[in-house]
Amino acid sequence: MPDRNVTAADVRSVLRAAGYTLLQVQPRLEKLSSLRPDVLAWAANADGDLAPWAVVEVKSGRLKRPELALPGLARSRDVMGTVDHYAVVNGEWFKADRGVRSLEPVDGPTPPEYGVRGLLTDEELATSLLVQRLWYEADRLRDSGAHAGDAFPSRTVLAETEQSGIELPDGGLLPVQPDVLWRAKRAALIEFASRGSSESSSHPVIASAVAALVEQRVAGTVLDPFCGTGSFLWAVLDRAARLDIPARFVGYEINPRLAGLAASIGNGAPLPVTIDEADAFATEFVGADVIITAPPLRVRSSDHQTLLDGSRTTDGDVAAVDKSLRALKAGGRAVFHVASWFTSSDRYASYRTFLANEFHVAALIGLPRGAMAGTAGTSVLMTIDKKEPAETFVAQLGEDWENQLEPEGAALSAALAFIDPAAAPRGLGQS
Ligand SMILES: C[S@@+](CC[C@H](N)C(=O)[O-])C[C@H]1O[C@@H](n2cnc3c(N)ncnc32)[C@H](O)[C@@H]1O
Repeated sequence: MPDRNVTAADVRSVLRAAGYTLLQVQPRLEKLSSLRPDVLAWAANADGDLAPWAVVEVKSGRLKRPELALPGLARSRDVMGTVDHYAVVNGEWFKADRGVRSLEPVDGPTPPEYGVRGLLTDEELATSLLVQRLWYEADRLRDSGAHAGDAFPSRTVLAETEQSGIELPDGGLLPVQPDVLWRAKRAALIEFASRGSSESSSHPVIASAVAALVEQRVAGTVLDPFCGTGSFLWAVLDRAARLDIPARFVGYEINPRLAGLAASIGNGAPLPVTIDEADAFATEFVGADVIITAPPLRVRSSDHQTLLDGSRTTDGDVAAVDKSLRALKAGGRAVFHVASWFTSSDRYASYRTFLANEFHVAALIGLPRGAMAGTAGTSVLMTIDKKEPAETFVAQLGEDWENQLEPEGAALSAALAFIDPAAAPRGLGQS
């Protein structure tokens, strides 16, 4: 007997009874073409990996034909690689053939062929699920009126669970391979921050280039005093982990929720990470061997800062660089991604002269619009070594700046050869 009131929740119960334990109703799979199937069931595939297995489209109404579900089901198969495809029309189940071209009536869903135990190993899917989770929690926060002026949900969304996995909004924990989860959490927060908030995450090519520029100096303590999502820290940490360098990573971030989320990610890192919610201008920095940072633009520090050249200012652009250089240990290296006005404006001329006389400004790589997130302006990657002055590598990149700063890119290779001429290769060509 047709039942026009069958809902996605009813379908979920039927799938549960057939042996599926991990189910999602209308999951919003962000990076996957905004796909939104009515019900998605996860199960193990032939390799024992957890994968999106069955998808169900639910239709009701007098004139609904099962075939109307075929385009949506085929899209799920193309995008997620699902194996079983169903339409439930007015309570009656139909199963699609392998090519998802036709539907046959069935009594109900086929039980999962290889069971439901396994680990998710697909990083893109894990990232997409986490982005969905971040949006879900951010929406809930906004709807509850608890929004504190930014889009970030609480750190618990990315907190470590007893078993490595992702909590689904509908309940249940989707087990994920630990290294996949660590990378997916990073990617999800960067993706979320880039699209959903006023605090922009740095461009991934910039993070990778910054890590390459400090690679020869990675040791001891690596600090990002304005760490945001932590993308610079993670890029350097990847290199340290691969080279087996026992460095530790410290970040400060003024936005409490963003700091919490980045700290949660850091808890799953293969090397020690501490990220504190802090106003960097009011915090004594830890002494650091390496500093990598993209300070906020045009901010004012709460108090006057006395700079290394003896002048006093509340100008955050220069104070951020100055505080970092103060914390840099002798022989250490700092890489800043700053707006171009830092290297061109008259306002900073005397501080630039001071820098040139007291430090080794090792490289200045000018970048066009688009390289610095959150601003339409041009920017500079500035590498400074805490040692006696010497010559500076200078380059101005154009529209192909991303290619130029790729791991084997011409500009990055030239800069590295200049700033670390005697460097024994550390065995890494990739970021
Ligand atoms: C340009 S973003 C850094 C982006 C970061 N590199 C990333 O990829 O996520 C600058 C960050 O500094 C933070 N910030 C602003 N003022 C700060 C302060 N006084 N102390 C610490 N962090 C601050 C902002 O919230 C923002 O996350």
